[in-house]
Amino acid sequence: MEYTVKSGNPEKQRIGCVVIPVFASRKLSSSAKIIDKVSNGYISNLLRRGEIEGDIGNALLLHNVENTLCDRILLIGCGKEKDVDVNAFKKINCNMVKRLQSSGATEIASYLTEVSVKRKDISWKIHHSIEAIDECLYKFDQLKSKKEEARRPLRKFIFSVNGRGQLMQGEQAVRQGMAVSAGIHLAKDLGNLPGNICTPDYLAKQAVKLATQHKKLKTSVLEESDMEKLGMGSLLSVSKGSREPAKLITMEYMAGDKKQAPIVFVGKGVTFDSGGISLKPGAAMDEMKYDMCGAASVIGVLSACADLQLPMNIVGIIPAVENMPDGIASRPGDVVTSMSGQTIEILNTDAEGRLILCDALSYAEKYDPHVVIDIATLTGACIVALGAHPAGLLSNHNPLANDLLSAGQTSGDRCWQLPLWDDYQEQLKSNFADMANIGGKGAGTITAACFLSRFTKKYHWAHLDIAGVAWKSGEHKGATGRPVGLLAQYVLDRCEDCQ
Ligand code: BES
Ligand code: MN
Ligand code: ZN
Repeated sequence: MEYTVKSGNPEKQRIGCVVIPVFASRKLSSSAKIIDKVSNGYISNLLRRGEIEGDIGNALLLHNVENTLCDRILLIGCGKEKDVDVNAFKKINCNMVKRLQSSGATEIASYLTEVSVKRKDISWKIHHSIEAIDECLYKFDQLKSKKEEARRPLRKFIFSVNGRGQLMQGEQAVRQGMAVSAGIHLAKDLGNLPGNICTPDYLAKQAVKLATQHKKLKTSVLEESDMEKLGMGSLLSVSKGSREPAKLITMEYMAGDKKQAPIVFVGKGVTFDSGGISLKPGAAMDEMKYDMCGAASVIGVLSACADLQLPMNIVGIIPAVENMPDGIASRPGDVVTSMSGQTIEILNTDAEGRLILCDALSYAEKYDPHVVIDIATLTGACIVALGAHPAGLLSNHNPLANDLLSAGQTSGDRCWQLPLWDDYQEQLKSNFADMANIGGKGAGTITAACFLSRFTKKYHWAHLDIAGVAWKSGEHKGATGRPVGLLAQYVLDRCEDCQ
């Protein structure tokens, strides 16, 4: 999709369709008032007759409106003028797209940018219109033998801004929105690919491919023999039962000052989680192809940062493995030694995410990081605690947690903090090793984070448990691309030259 910004009156747009907001109950927006005036009260007449109420979900397509230059005008209901929040704004945009798809118009001028959204400015509205439009248009048909093509697909959106003064700001917002949206798209595609295609090797190849597209991005891949030398006995124990060799993928985007410590993202990349010898039940096991969505979000956010050529240092580390049962797979009761030297009793082979993350987190020390943020579909317990709305957030450094909470509010891709108190650590006691890999009954998300916290003592660290948010189940099964939006916002908030 092509996106641009423009300032100017709605009746003067010579284009396929102009999108105009109307509010509940039957209230005109300023652009609607302008159209109303030039068309001698046509819009207010329609409202008075009850053709459209202005509620969210309402839409009314008009043709050949008097004294306008556009082919069509689409009135979009935006609900109560003062109640438009982040979620409502997304719904309004998606409703617009759905209506436009069957309108025949291909080029659109949108005046939804004049709707005021609580505590958000014009840049935010443009950036998030782009994310919402792309989200609404996303489909994953790579693996269908016949693809449905829209007869007249939407090609171009022009966002209206208030005067020339907002043009530069608007163009910057378009660049950011498109880059983040492309990162989300990439993360969705990687997530949706099945385990027989999206293997650890496939993930590594995608990361290498991304580096060929950006001068400042370098990808390197460690093989199992390299990891053995580094002493990553915990990570390697997970992939032992799989025919797919483990990969440790590192993406370095170093476009900042040499002295600037990097932001390091670590993404769980279990390309299929069968549970191993502690085999999962069959129901919905296919969804464990999504157990690499943390990795996908790391690739997505690095793609966005590189696209935007941010003058920053950002590193992505992805431990990529497949978790399978086999004659040489880890057994419950096995003890392994992690790269940190700490020993782990594997009481449940299905708690594999923490086993690969702990070695990747030790590996991250070599970057002397500013902060380390890991992203993982780590615990079913997180879905019990928080459902599908926020990611779980746990951190050993409150300022970092607050920065992520705030990036979540800005982006709408939210997280919610859980306590990482020492009181929970004792649940990880083992009779035979330094720790067990499961914490028993209660607080499964917290004890998983407690496990990781034993490997992150040397830096500021936050953990995002995305088990509830990375994909949707049921009729609309599919990856969401979360939390690329959150992570990109966190990075943008730290970028001094991007404000
Ligand atoms: N990948 C799963 C977590 C998961 C399960 C995410 C379902 C989303 C939906 C993880 O590897 C896992 O199996 N965790 C176990 C941990 C338990 C054995 C302590 C879980 O949550 O059941
Ligand atoms: Mn598991
Ligand atoms: Zn898993």
